[in-house]
Amino acid sequence: MTTSSIPGYRLGDTTLPKSPLTKDDLATLKTTLLFGDADVAALRQAHGVVEDQVEAILDVWYGFVGSTPHLLAYFSDAKTHQPLGAYLDAVRKRFGQWILDTCRADYDEAWLAWQDEIGRRHHRSGKNRTDGVSAAPHIPMRYVLALAVPISVTMKPFLAKKGHASAEVEAMHAAWSKAVLLQAILWSRPYAREGDF
Ligand code: HEM
Repeated sequence: MTTSSIPGYRLGDTTLPKSPLTKDDLATLKTTLLFGDADVAALRQAHGVVEDQVEAILDVWYGFVGSTPHLLAYFSDAKTHQPLGAYLDAVRKRFGQWILDTCRADYDEAWLAWQDEIGRRHHRSGKNRTDGVSAAPHIPMRYVLALAVPISVTMKPFLAKKGHASAEVEAMHAAWSKAVLLQAILWSRPYAREGDF
């Protein structure tokens, strides 16, 4: 599937609001996470390792969310509490693309604006709008940050699947984990009071 054919996918869309974060803000955040050029290189390597495993990775993550009632609630109708299959499917397509985007991000203004938009999509300021659904209206920030752990831990077996040396797998996995936390932190901005992020 080409990115332009994924409904609601907007990386590179110049009509997205610009992020208030500067490239310098991003650079100091990356430094704080010990996220450096070696991590960027390891993520580029990870791209080749995971690109044909995206559906299997999504099966694991959706298996976790689907079997965890307090998380599945955010994909479920706000009134009937029934999981919304079409919503789960629509988000899954963008989630798959996000795996690849995370491996080859170029951390420019378009990428920062897209991180802001993904943050809004978890927060009541933007959730449900992209897919026009009436699901639970807001995901608490504590879960957004906490999910960084399963999204990181579960990636390791996939990174190890193509016969790379264990040091390379470790490097790809460390880089992946930092990249996930970096984004979860950026997505927490709408949850913070003005000036507190
Ligand atoms: C949307 C990743 C935390 C539920 C998304 C998207 C991605 C993503 C890539 C698609 C964004 C888009 O292109 O529209 C992640 C990651 C998380 C995280 C990496 C943690 C590190 C959570 C948690 C929940 C959740 C804790 C709770 C179940 C959702 C929902 C959407 C979504 C419901 C669709 C929002 C909407 O547009 O209506 N997430 N997510 N996410 N995520 Fe998360």
